Amino acid sequence: MNYNDIETTAAEPCASSMILTFRAIGYNLETAVADVIDNSISANAKNIWFSSEWNGGNSVITILDDGCGMNNEELVQAMKPGAKNPMDKRPEKDLGRFGLGLKTASFSQCQKLIVVSKKAGFAPIYWIWDLNYVNKTNKWELIRYPIADDFLHALDKLESGTLVIWTDLDRIIPPDTLQSNEIVKDKFLAQMAKVKQHLAMTFHRFIEEKSVKLFCWGHEVKPWNPFVTTKSQTQLFSDDYLDSHTFVKGYVLPHKSYFTKEEHLDAGGIKGWVAQQGFYVYRSKRLLLAGDWLGLFRKEVHYQLARIQIDLPNQSDNEWLIDIKKSTARLPFEIQERIKSYASTVRKKAEEVFRHRGKLYKIRNGQEFHLLWQPKKQGTKILFEVNRNHLLVKELVEMAKTKPERAIESLFRLIEETIPTKSIFIKESEGEIAEPFENNNEDLVKTWIKQIYNAQKASGKSVDQIKLLLANMEPFNNFPHLIELIEEI
Ligand SMILES: Nc1ncnc2c1ncn2[C@@H]1O[C@H](COP(=O)(O)OP(=O)(O)OP(=O)(O)O)[C@@H](O)[C@H]1O
Ligand SMILES: [Mg+2]
Repeated sequence: MNYNDIETTAAEPCASSMILTFRAIGYNLETAVADVIDNSISANAKNIWFSSEWNGGNSVITILDDGCGMNNEELVQAMKPGAKNPMDKRPEKDLGRFGLGLKTASFSQCQKLIVVSKKAGFAPIYWIWDLNYVNKTNKWELIRYPIADDFLHALDKLESGTLVIWTDLDRIIPPDTLQSNEIVKDKFLAQMAKVKQHLAMTFHRFIEEKSVKLFCWGHEVKPWNPFVTTKSQTQLFSDDYLDSHTFVKGYVLPHKSYFTKEEHLDAGGIKGWVAQQGFYVYRSKRLLLAGDWLGLFRKEVHYQLARIQIDLPNQSDNEWLIDIKKSTARLPFEIQERIKSYASTVRKKAEEVFRHRGKLYKIRNGQEFHLLWQPKKQGTKILFEVNRNHLLVKELVEMAKTKPERAIESLFRLIEETIPTKSIFIKESEGEIAEPFENNNEDLVKTWIKQIYNAQKASGKSVDQIKLLLANMEPFNNFPHLIELIEEI
Protein backbone atom coordinates (compact mmCIF):
# COMPACT_ATOMS: atom_id res chain seq x y z
CA MET A 1 0.00 0.00 0.00
CA ASN A 2 1.31 3.44 -0.90
CA TYR A 3 0.57 5.75 2.04
CA ASN A 4 1.83 8.91 0.33
CA ASP A 5 -1.31 10.05 -1.40
CA ILE A 6 -4.14 9.24 0.95
CA GLU A 7 -6.63 11.15 3.09
CA THR A 8 -5.83 11.34 6.83
CA THR A 9 -7.27 12.74 10.04
CA ALA A 10 -5.58 12.92 13.43
CA ALA A 11 -6.79 10.39 16.06
CA GLU A 12 -4.48 11.04 18.96
CA PRO A 13 -5.16 9.35 22.26
CA CYS A 14 -6.94 11.42 24.88
CA ALA A 15 -4.34 11.92 27.62
CA SER A 16 -6.67 11.86 30.61
CA SER A 17 -8.38 8.61 29.68
CA MET A 18 -5.36 6.91 28.12
CA ILE A 19 -3.26 7.40 31.20
CA LEU A 20 -6.01 5.83 33.27
CA THR A 21 -5.93 2.85 30.94
CA PHE A 22 -2.25 2.46 31.76
CA ARG A 23 -3.31 1.94 35.36
CA ALA A 24 -5.28 -1.16 34.45
CA ILE A 25 -2.60 -3.36 32.92
CA GLY A 26 -2.88 -5.77 35.81
CA TYR A 27 0.28 -5.46 37.85
CA ASN A 28 0.26 -6.22 41.52
CA LEU A 29 2.58 -4.41 43.88
CA GLU A 30 5.32 -7.06 43.64
CA THR A 31 5.37 -7.26 39.86
CA ALA A 32 5.28 -3.46 39.64
CA VAL A 33 8.31 -3.02 41.91
CA ALA A 34 10.16 -5.77 40.03
CA ASP A 35 9.52 -3.99 36.73
CA VAL A 36 11.12 -0.81 38.06
CA ILE A 37 14.06 -2.81 39.39
CA ASP A 38 14.49 -4.33 35.92
CA ASN A 39 15.36 -0.84 34.74
CA SER A 40 17.97 -0.45 37.47
CA ILE A 41 19.61 -3.72 36.45
CA SER A 42 19.52 -2.75 32.78
CA ALA A 43 21.20 0.52 33.80
CA ASN A 44 24.07 -1.55 35.30
CA ALA A 45 23.25 -0.76 38.89
CA LYS A 46 25.40 -2.62 41.41
CA ASN A 47 23.24 -1.64 44.37
CA ILE A 48 19.49 -1.23 44.49
CA TRP A 49 17.64 0.02 47.54
CA PHE A 50 13.91 -0.62 47.89
CA SER A 51 12.22 1.21 50.72
CA SER A 52 8.86 2.32 51.99
CA GLU A 53 7.69 4.66 54.67
CA TRP A 54 4.34 4.34 56.35
CA ASN A 55 2.55 7.65 56.75
CA GLY A 56 -1.12 6.83 56.18
CA GLY A 57 -2.40 8.32 52.91
CA ASN A 58 0.95 10.10 52.48
CA SER A 59 3.04 6.93 52.53
CA VAL A 60 5.87 6.63 50.06
CA ILE A 61 7.65 3.85 48.19
CA THR A 62 11.12 4.46 46.74
CA ILE A 63 13.53 2.53 44.55
CA LEU A 64 17.04 3.91 44.37
CA ASP A 65 19.88 2.62 42.23
CA ASP A 66 23.48 3.46 41.46
CA GLY A 67 23.15 2.70 37.77
CA CYS A 68 24.19 4.94 34.89
CA GLY A 69 21.46 7.51 35.56
CA MET A 70 20.00 9.92 33.01
CA ASN A 71 20.49 13.52 31.96
CA ASN A 72 17.51 15.76 31.41
CA GLU A 73 16.92 14.78 27.83
CA GLU A 74 17.20 11.06 28.59
CA LEU A 75 14.91 11.35 31.60
CA VAL A 76 12.19 13.09 29.62
CA GLN A 77 12.50 10.39 26.98
CA ALA A 78 12.40 7.67 29.66
CA MET A 79 9.21 9.08 31.16
CA LYS A 80 7.47 9.15 27.81
CA PRO A 81 5.05 6.25 27.30
CA GLY A 82 6.42 4.13 24.47
CA ALA A 83 9.95 5.45 25.07
CA LYS A 84 11.38 2.71 22.89
CA ASN A 85 10.24 0.60 19.99
CA PRO A 86 9.41 -2.97 21.13
CA MET A 87 10.81 -4.29 17.85
CA ASP A 88 14.27 -2.81 18.47
CA LYS A 89 17.07 -5.26 19.13
CA ARG A 90 18.23 -4.72 22.71
CA PRO A 91 21.57 -5.45 24.35
CA GLU A 92 21.73 -8.97 25.79
CA LYS A 93 21.45 -7.79 29.40
CA ASP A 94 18.64 -5.30 28.82
CA LEU A 95 15.55 -6.46 30.71
CA GLY A 96 13.22 -3.99 28.96
CA ARG A 97 11.18 -4.44 25.79
CA PHE A 98 8.20 -2.11 25.47
CA GLY A 99 9.36 1.30 26.61
CA LEU A 100 6.43 1.34 29.03
CA GLY A 101 7.32 -0.47 32.26
CA LEU A 102 8.40 2.49 34.34
CA LYS A 103 5.13 4.28 33.66
CA THR A 104 2.66 1.41 33.64
CA ALA A 105 4.15 -0.24 36.74
CA SER A 106 4.16 3.06 38.64
CA PHE A 107 0.68 4.19 37.61
CA SER A 108 -0.71 0.81 38.59
CA GLN A 109 0.16 1.67 42.20
CA CYS A 110 0.30 5.43 42.57
CA GLN A 111 -0.96 8.78 41.31
CA LYS A 112 2.39 10.53 41.44
CA LEU A 113 5.59 9.24 39.93
CA ILE A 114 8.69 11.29 40.60
CA VAL A 115 11.96 10.30 38.98
CA VAL A 116 15.17 11.93 40.15
CA SER A 117 18.24 11.00 38.14
CA LYS A 118 21.89 11.87 37.89
CA LYS A 119 24.24 10.96 35.11
CA ALA A 120 27.97 11.09 35.83
CA GLY A 121 29.18 14.60 35.09
CA PHE A 122 25.65 16.09 35.05
CA ALA A 123 23.60 17.80 37.74
CA PRO A 124 20.72 15.76 39.19
CA ILE A 125 17.33 16.53 37.64
CA TYR A 126 13.79 15.33 38.21
CA TRP A 127 10.40 15.23 36.54
CA ILE A 128 6.96 14.28 37.80
CA TRP A 129 4.03 12.47 36.26
CA ASP A 130 1.04 13.68 38.26
CA LEU A 131 -2.11 11.83 37.17
CA ASN A 132 -4.28 14.47 38.75
CA TYR A 133 -2.66 17.13 36.58
CA VAL A 134 -3.02 15.03 33.42
CA ASN A 135 -6.63 14.35 34.26
CA LYS A 136 -7.39 18.06 34.80
CA THR A 137 -5.48 19.41 31.80
CA ASN A 138 -5.78 16.47 29.43
CA LYS A 139 -2.17 17.10 28.44
CA TRP A 140 0.73 14.68 28.09
CA GLU A 141 2.92 16.89 30.24
CA LEU A 142 5.51 16.18 32.86
CA ILE A 143 5.62 18.78 35.58
CA ARG A 144 8.06 19.95 38.20
CA TYR A 145 7.27 21.38 41.59
CA PRO A 146 9.38 21.39 44.75
CA ILE A 147 9.94 17.98 46.33
CA ALA A 148 11.29 16.99 49.75
CA ASP A 149 14.99 17.70 50.35
CA ASP A 150 15.60 14.05 51.22
CA PHE A 151 14.60 13.09 47.71
CA LEU A 152 16.62 15.87 46.11
CA HIS A 153 19.75 14.83 47.94
CA ALA A 154 19.29 11.07 47.75
CA LEU A 155 21.81 10.83 44.91
CA ASP A 156 24.43 13.11 46.48
CA LYS A 157 26.68 10.28 47.56
CA LEU A 158 26.45 8.43 44.27
CA GLU A 159 28.37 9.25 41.15
CA SER A 160 25.30 8.40 39.11
CA GLY A 161 21.95 6.78 39.74
CA THR A 162 18.20 7.06 39.71
CA LEU A 163 15.55 7.41 42.37
CA VAL A 164 11.98 6.41 41.58
CA ILE A 165 9.40 7.73 44.05
CA TRP A 166 5.78 6.66 44.27
CA THR A 167 3.43 8.81 46.30
CA ASP A 168 -0.37 9.01 46.55
CA LEU A 169 -0.45 5.23 46.59
CA ASP A 170 -4.20 5.13 46.06
CA ARG A 171 -4.17 1.53 44.83
CA ILE A 172 -2.61 0.33 48.06
CA ILE A 173 -3.75 2.86 50.66
CA PRO A 174 -7.08 4.72 50.59
CA PRO A 175 -6.19 8.45 50.14
CA ASP A 176 -7.55 9.77 53.46
CA THR A 177 -6.01 7.07 55.63
CA LEU A 178 -4.57 8.44 58.87
CA GLN A 179 -1.12 7.47 60.01
CA SER A 180 -2.70 6.01 63.14
CA ASN A 181 -4.84 3.56 61.16
CA GLU A 182 -3.33 0.28 62.38
CA ILE A 183 -5.50 -1.95 60.21
CA VAL A 184 -4.36 -0.39 56.93
CA LYS A 185 -0.84 -0.12 58.27
CA ASP A 186 -0.66 -3.85 59.00
CA LYS A 187 -1.97 -4.62 55.54
CA PHE A 188 0.60 -2.29 54.01
CA LEU A 189 3.45 -3.86 55.96
CA ALA A 190 2.30 -7.35 55.00
CA GLN A 191 2.33 -6.31 51.34
CA MET A 192 5.83 -4.94 51.76
CA ALA A 193 7.03 -8.23 53.21
CA LYS A 194 5.58 -9.96 50.15
CA VAL A 195 7.45 -7.56 47.88
CA LYS A 196 10.72 -8.49 49.57
CA GLN A 197 10.03 -12.20 49.08
CA HIS A 198 9.13 -11.63 45.45
CA LEU A 199 12.33 -9.68 44.80
CA ALA A 200 14.49 -12.31 46.53
CA MET A 201 13.01 -14.83 44.11
CA THR A 202 12.80 -12.77 40.91
CA PHE A 203 16.38 -11.52 41.05
CA HIS A 204 17.99 -14.45 42.88
CA ARG A 205 20.46 -15.15 40.10
CA PHE A 206 21.80 -11.60 40.05
CA ILE A 207 22.21 -11.66 43.82
CA GLU A 208 23.83 -15.11 43.79
CA GLU A 209 26.38 -14.18 41.17
CA LYS A 210 27.01 -10.96 43.09
CA SER A 211 26.41 -8.69 40.12
CA VAL A 212 23.76 -6.87 42.16
CA LYS A 213 23.16 -6.19 45.84
CA LEU A 214 19.56 -5.64 46.72
CA PHE A 215 18.48 -3.94 49.93
CA CYS A 216 15.04 -3.70 51.47
CA TRP A 217 14.79 -0.98 54.11
CA GLY A 218 18.57 -0.99 54.32
CA HIS A 219 18.91 -4.75 54.86
CA GLU A 220 20.62 -6.86 52.26
CA VAL A 221 18.25 -9.36 50.66
CA LYS A 222 19.25 -13.01 50.56
CA PRO A 223 18.46 -14.82 47.34
CA TRP A 224 15.68 -17.42 47.18
CA ASN A 225 16.76 -20.19 44.85
CA PRO A 226 13.85 -22.38 43.74
CA PHE A 227 16.08 -25.37 43.04
CA VAL A 228 17.50 -25.71 46.55
CA THR A 229 20.91 -26.49 45.10
CA THR A 230 22.45 -26.18 48.56
CA LYS A 231 21.04 -29.59 49.48
CA SER A 232 23.07 -32.54 48.29
CA GLN A 233 19.89 -34.62 47.94
CA THR A 234 18.52 -32.37 45.17
CA GLN A 235 18.66 -34.35 41.95
CA LEU A 236 19.91 -32.52 38.87
CA PHE A 237 18.95 -33.60 35.39
CA SER A 238 21.26 -33.09 32.47
CA ASP A 239 20.61 -29.81 30.73
CA ASP A 240 19.45 -29.52 27.19
CA TYR A 241 18.83 -26.97 24.48
CA LEU A 242 15.27 -27.04 23.14
CA ASP A 243 16.39 -24.94 20.19
CA SER A 244 19.46 -22.87 19.49
CA HIS A 245 18.87 -20.56 22.46
CA THR A 246 16.33 -22.10 24.85
CA PHE A 247 18.07 -23.85 27.72
CA VAL A 248 16.33 -26.27 30.05
CA LYS A 249 17.44 -28.00 33.24
CA GLY A 250 15.33 -30.10 35.56
CA TYR A 251 15.57 -30.49 39.31
CA VAL A 252 13.89 -32.85 41.71
CA LEU A 253 13.98 -31.41 45.17
CA PRO A 254 14.63 -33.63 48.17
CA HIS A 255 11.93 -35.43 50.08
CA LYS A 256 10.50 -33.52 53.04
CA SER A 257 12.41 -35.76 55.44
CA TYR A 258 15.68 -34.10 54.39
CA PHE A 259 14.55 -30.63 55.49
CA THR A 260 14.18 -29.03 58.88
CA LYS A 261 10.75 -27.54 59.45
CA GLU A 262 12.00 -24.00 58.72
CA GLU A 263 13.94 -25.07 55.64
CA HIS A 264 10.91 -26.86 54.29
CA LEU A 265 8.69 -23.85 54.81
CA ASP A 266 11.24 -21.58 53.14
CA ALA A 267 11.77 -23.88 50.15
CA GLY A 268 7.99 -23.94 49.68
CA GLY A 269 8.34 -20.34 48.52
CA ILE A 270 5.65 -17.69 48.36
CA LYS A 271 2.88 -19.93 47.11
CA GLY A 272 3.75 -23.20 48.86
CA TRP A 273 5.12 -26.50 47.56
CA VAL A 274 2.29 -27.64 45.34
CA ALA A 275 1.84 -24.28 43.64
CA GLN A 276 5.57 -23.77 43.18
CA GLN A 277 6.06 -26.90 41.05
CA GLY A 278 6.60 -26.49 37.33
CA PHE A 279 8.70 -24.45 34.97
CA TYR A 280 10.73 -21.47 36.11
CA VAL A 281 11.11 -19.27 33.07
CA TYR A 282 14.03 -16.85 33.14
CA ARG A 283 14.54 -14.10 30.63
CA SER A 284 18.14 -12.89 30.68
CA LYS A 285 18.46 -14.45 34.19
CA ARG A 286 15.45 -12.53 35.50
CA LEU A 287 12.64 -14.81 36.67
CA LEU A 288 9.43 -14.29 34.72
CA LEU A 289 7.34 -17.27 35.75
CA ALA A 290 7.80 -19.07 39.02
CA GLY A 291 6.19 -22.49 38.93
CA ASP A 292 3.87 -22.97 35.97
CA TRP A 293 3.41 -26.01 33.74
CA LEU A 294 2.63 -23.68 30.82
CA GLY A 295 -0.57 -25.51 30.02
CA LEU A 296 1.19 -28.86 29.51
CA PHE A 297 0.23 -30.51 32.79
CA ARG A 298 -1.87 -29.91 35.85
CA LYS A 299 -0.30 -29.15 39.19
CA GLU A 300 -0.67 -32.15 41.43
CA VAL A 301 0.47 -32.93 44.93
CA HIS A 302 2.75 -35.77 43.91
CA TYR A 303 4.70 -33.67 41.42
CA GLN A 304 5.47 -30.96 43.94
CA LEU A 305 9.19 -31.77 44.00
CA ALA A 306 9.62 -31.06 40.27
CA ARG A 307 10.99 -27.67 39.29
CA ILE A 308 12.45 -27.02 35.87
CA GLN A 309 14.56 -24.08 34.81
CA ILE A 310 14.06 -22.59 31.36
CA ASP A 311 16.39 -19.84 30.17
CA LEU A 312 15.45 -17.47 27.38
CA PRO A 313 17.39 -14.61 25.87
CA ASN A 314 15.50 -11.35 25.30
CA GLN A 315 15.56 -12.05 21.57
CA SER A 316 12.89 -14.74 22.17
CA ASP A 317 10.32 -12.23 23.45
CA ASN A 318 8.17 -12.48 20.35
CA GLU A 319 8.09 -16.25 20.20
CA TRP A 320 7.22 -16.52 23.89
CA LEU A 321 4.75 -13.60 23.80
CA ILE A 322 6.36 -11.87 26.78
CA ASP A 323 3.92 -9.31 28.20
CA ILE A 324 4.53 -5.78 29.44
CA LYS A 325 4.47 -6.88 33.08
CA LYS A 326 7.09 -9.57 32.39
CA SER A 327 4.92 -12.00 34.26
CA THR A 328 3.41 -14.18 31.56
CA ALA A 329 4.80 -16.18 28.68
CA ARG A 330 3.49 -18.72 26.21
CA LEU A 331 5.27 -21.87 25.18
CA PRO A 332 6.14 -21.71 21.47
CA PHE A 333 4.49 -24.49 19.51
CA GLU A 334 7.72 -25.70 17.90
CA ILE A 335 9.30 -26.83 21.16
CA GLN A 336 6.19 -28.11 22.94
CA GLU A 337 6.79 -31.81 22.31
CA ARG A 338 10.45 -31.72 23.32
CA ILE A 339 9.80 -29.84 26.51
CA LYS A 340 6.88 -32.08 27.37
CA SER A 341 9.01 -35.16 27.04
CA TYR A 342 11.84 -33.62 29.08
CA ALA A 343 9.43 -32.51 31.80
CA SER A 344 7.73 -35.91 31.90
CA THR A 345 11.02 -37.55 32.88
CA VAL A 346 11.58 -35.01 35.66
CA ARG A 347 8.01 -35.37 36.88
CA LYS A 348 8.28 -39.14 36.98
CA LYS A 349 11.36 -38.96 39.16
CA ALA A 350 9.70 -36.32 41.35
CA GLU A 351 6.75 -38.61 41.94
CA GLU A 352 9.05 -41.47 42.87
CA VAL A 353 10.92 -39.33 45.40
CA PHE A 354 7.69 -37.93 46.81
CA ARG A 355 6.27 -41.42 47.36
CA HIS A 356 9.27 -43.38 48.40
CA ARG A 357 11.57 -40.86 49.98
CA GLY A 358 13.86 -41.25 47.01
CA LYS A 359 14.84 -44.76 47.92
CA LEU A 360 14.72 -47.60 45.48
CA TYR A 361 12.06 -49.87 46.83
CA LYS A 362 12.26 -53.02 44.76
CA ILE A 363 15.93 -53.83 44.91
CA ARG A 364 18.20 -52.05 47.36
CA ASN A 365 21.86 -52.92 47.78
CA GLY A 366 21.19 -56.03 45.72
CA GLN A 367 18.56 -57.14 48.26
CA GLU A 368 14.87 -57.47 47.64
CA PHE A 369 12.91 -54.82 49.50
CA HIS A 370 9.90 -56.05 51.43
CA LEU A 371 6.83 -53.97 50.83
CA LEU A 372 4.05 -54.19 53.37
CA TRP A 373 1.41 -52.89 50.98
CA GLN A 374 1.46 -53.88 47.35
CA PRO A 375 -0.47 -52.24 44.57
CA LYS A 376 -2.46 -54.94 42.81
CA LYS A 377 -4.17 -54.56 39.46
CA GLN A 378 -7.87 -55.08 39.58
CA GLY A 379 -9.27 -54.65 36.09
CA THR A 380 -8.23 -51.17 35.05
CA LYS A 381 -7.94 -50.03 38.67
CA ILE A 382 -5.65 -50.65 41.59
CA LEU A 383 -6.16 -52.17 45.00
CA PHE A 384 -3.59 -51.91 47.77
CA GLU A 385 -3.10 -55.32 49.22
CA VAL A 386 -1.35 -56.37 52.43
CA ASN A 387 1.64 -58.47 51.38
CA ARG A 388 0.90 -61.94 52.81
CA ASN A 389 4.54 -62.89 52.25
CA HIS A 390 5.90 -60.07 54.39
CA LEU A 391 7.84 -61.69 57.24
CA LEU A 392 5.93 -59.89 59.97
CA VAL A 393 2.57 -60.72 58.44
CA LYS A 394 3.63 -64.36 58.24
CA GLU A 395 4.74 -64.24 61.88
CA LEU A 396 1.39 -62.83 62.97
CA VAL A 397 -0.49 -65.51 61.03
CA GLU A 398 1.63 -68.10 62.83
CA MET A 399 0.98 -66.43 66.17
CA ALA A 400 -2.76 -66.51 65.53
CA LYS A 401 -2.67 -70.27 65.98
CA THR A 402 -1.68 -70.00 69.63
CA LYS A 403 -2.52 -66.42 70.66
CA PRO A 404 -5.23 -65.31 68.24
CA GLU A 405 -6.29 -62.16 70.16
CA ARG A 406 -2.76 -60.75 70.39
CA ALA A 407 -2.08 -61.64 66.78
CA ILE A 408 -5.23 -59.96 65.49
CA GLU A 409 -4.65 -56.85 67.60
CA SER A 410 -1.06 -56.66 66.32
CA LEU A 411 -2.24 -57.01 62.76
CA PHE A 412 -4.81 -54.25 63.24
CA ARG A 413 -2.12 -51.96 64.64
CA LEU A 414 0.20 -52.74 61.78
CA ILE A 415 -2.50 -51.90 59.25
CA GLU A 416 -3.54 -48.71 61.05
CA GLU A 417 0.01 -47.41 61.32
CA THR A 418 1.14 -48.18 57.81
CA ILE A 419 -1.80 -47.57 55.48
CA PRO A 420 -0.06 -46.12 52.39
CA THR A 421 -2.07 -42.90 52.47
CA LYS A 422 0.20 -41.01 50.07
CA SER A 423 0.17 -43.67 47.40
CA ILE A 424 -3.58 -44.06 47.77
CA PHE A 425 -4.06 -40.32 47.55
CA ILE A 426 -2.00 -40.14 44.37
CA LYS A 427 -3.84 -42.98 42.70
CA GLU A 428 -7.19 -41.64 43.92
CA SER A 429 -6.51 -38.23 42.37
CA GLU A 430 -5.88 -40.03 39.09
CA GLY A 431 -9.13 -42.00 39.48
CA GLU A 432 -7.27 -45.31 39.62
CA ILE A 433 -8.38 -46.67 42.96
CA ALA A 434 -10.84 -49.54 42.77
CA GLU A 435 -14.10 -49.29 44.71
CA PRO A 436 -14.50 -51.82 47.53
CA PHE A 437 -14.96 -55.26 46.01
CA GLU A 438 -15.02 -53.79 42.51
CA ASN A 439 -14.57 -56.57 39.91
CA ASN A 440 -14.68 -59.18 42.66
CA ASN A 441 -17.47 -61.68 42.83
CA GLU A 442 -19.66 -61.08 45.81
CA ASP A 443 -19.15 -64.45 47.47
CA LEU A 444 -16.91 -63.04 50.18
CA VAL A 445 -19.41 -60.33 51.04
CA LYS A 446 -22.19 -62.92 51.14
CA THR A 447 -20.18 -65.05 53.54
CA TRP A 448 -19.68 -62.11 55.87
CA ILE A 449 -23.32 -61.10 55.70
CA LYS A 450 -24.31 -64.61 56.58
CA GLN A 451 -21.86 -64.65 59.48
CA ILE A 452 -23.32 -61.49 60.97
CA TYR A 453 -26.87 -62.63 60.23
CA ASN A 454 -26.37 -65.91 62.10
CA ALA A 455 -24.77 -64.23 65.09
CA GLN A 456 -27.43 -61.53 65.35
CA LYS A 457 -30.26 -63.99 64.84
CA ALA A 458 -28.86 -66.12 67.66
CA SER A 459 -28.87 -63.07 69.92
CA GLY A 460 -32.61 -62.66 69.28
CA LYS A 461 -32.76 -59.89 66.60
CA SER A 462 -35.52 -59.96 64.00
CA VAL A 463 -34.74 -60.16 60.26
CA ASP A 464 -35.81 -56.52 59.78
CA GLN A 465 -33.58 -55.37 62.62
CA ILE A 466 -30.60 -57.19 61.10
CA LYS A 467 -31.31 -55.70 57.67
CA LEU A 468 -31.38 -52.20 59.16
CA LEU A 469 -28.14 -52.86 61.02
CA LEU A 470 -26.33 -54.04 57.89
CA ALA A 471 -27.67 -51.19 55.78
CA ASN A 472 -25.89 -48.84 58.19
CA MET A 473 -22.62 -50.71 58.34
CA GLU A 474 -19.53 -50.51 56.11
CA PRO A 475 -18.93 -52.22 53.72
CA PHE A 476 -22.42 -53.77 53.56
CA ASN A 477 -24.13 -50.45 52.94
CA ASN A 478 -22.78 -50.79 49.38
CA PHE A 479 -24.66 -54.05 48.87
CA PRO A 480 -28.37 -53.34 49.48
CA HIS A 481 -29.35 -56.05 46.98
CA LEU A 482 -27.57 -58.70 49.08
CA ILE A 483 -29.12 -57.40 52.29
CA GLU A 484 -32.54 -57.64 50.68
CA LEU A 485 -32.00 -61.33 49.93
CA ILE A 486 -30.53 -62.02 53.34
CA GLU A 487 -32.71 -65.01 54.11
CA GLU A 488 -31.82 -66.78 50.88
CA ILE A 489 -28.07 -66.40 51.29
N1 LIG B 1 16.72 3.36 36.72
C1 LIG B 1 17.03 3.73 35.47
N2 LIG B 1 18.29 4.06 35.15
C2 LIG B 1 18.62 4.44 33.90
N3 LIG B 1 17.74 4.51 32.87
C3 LIG B 1 16.48 4.17 33.12
C4 LIG B 1 16.04 3.79 34.42
N4 LIG B 1 14.73 3.54 34.37
C5 LIG B 1 14.35 3.74 33.10
N5 LIG B 1 15.39 4.12 32.33
C6 LIG B 1 15.36 4.43 30.90
O1 LIG B 1 14.02 4.64 30.57
C7 LIG B 1 13.62 3.79 29.51
C8 LIG B 1 12.16 3.49 29.65
O2 LIG B 1 11.93 2.62 30.75
P1 LIG B 1 10.65 1.73 30.77
O3 LIG B 1 10.73 0.83 31.91
O4 LIG B 1 9.46 2.58 30.67
O5 LIG B 1 10.75 0.90 29.42
P2 LIG B 1 11.80 -0.23 29.03
O6 LIG B 1 12.54 -0.66 30.21
O7 LIG B 1 12.59 0.31 27.89
O8 LIG B 1 10.85 -1.37 28.49
P3 LIG B 1 9.74 -2.15 29.34
O9 LIG B 1 8.44 -1.52 29.03
O10 LIG B 1 9.80 -3.52 28.79
O11 LIG B 1 10.11 -2.03 30.77
C9 LIG B 1 14.55 2.61 29.61
O12 LIG B 1 14.68 1.97 28.38
C10 LIG B 1 15.85 3.28 30.05
O13 LIG B 1 16.51 3.80 28.95
MG1 LIG C 1 11.54 -1.27 31.99
